[in-house]
Amino acid sequence: MRAYCWARFGILRQRFLDEIGQYLPPEGPVLDIGCGFGLFSLYYALAEPRRLVRGVDLSRRRIAMARRAAARLGLDNVAYEEGDARDFKGDGEVLAAYMLDIVHHIPPGAVRPLLAQLRRCLPAGGMLLVKDVDTRPAPKRWFTWALDKLMAPGTPVHYWAADALQAALGDSGFRVRRHLMVDVLPYPHVLFVCEATG
Ligand SMILES: C[S@@+](CC[C@H](N)C(=O)[O-])C[C@H]1O[C@@H](n2cnc3c(N)ncnc32)[C@H](O)[C@@H]1O
Repeated sequence: MRAYCWARFGILRQRFLDEIGQYLPPEGPVLDIGCGFGLFSLYYALAEPRRLVRGVDLSRRRIAMARRAAARLGLDNVAYEEGDARDFKGDGEVLAAYMLDIVHHIPPGAVRPLLAQLRRCLPAGGMLLVKDVDTRPAPKRWFTWALDKLMAPGTPVHYWAADALQAALGDSGFRVRRHLMVDVLPYPHVLFVCEATG
């Protein structure tokens, strides 16, 4: 994990972080569903001290690592909890939410209910950022699949075609734009920039 974090942040470009971060409010509550061991939530909390980032992940081990990292960084504007995205309920308003490389780990039938819950917890105009893996081009998909299996061999994977995921987001009450994400590694990553409609 340590090696992964070191390598991942080593090759992450600032532009990559900013492409997502530009849509997050500088203050107020932000939700990170599937936060893993906190790579992004720690960065976005560190970047804006008045932003309150709440990370949720299925893995107890990853949540413990994220909490330890937050403590070591002295951050009090990020909090982590163990939880299943499939059980997520819009239990309070957040100003923005993001899901980075998690939709493909959620069983396909549970994705639309999760999107509906996320829409419920966002105000009109609130932003949901979804970064995920397109099914094309196939060689990039296979590369990403191999890495997914290496990192979490037991976790199921279902990649959505970008058109299908965009349609599901649109049907859930979001105005959606999408573009490819620039990365050093050959991931077929797509960023969906979703604004909650009124
Ligand atoms: C590829 S990692 C991405 C982690 C983080 N978003 C990042 O970009 O560094 C996928 C994460 O989704 C989590 N996950 C998988 N299924 C989940 C579920 N049903 N509910 C919450 N988290 C889940 C895994 O534990 C893992 O941390």
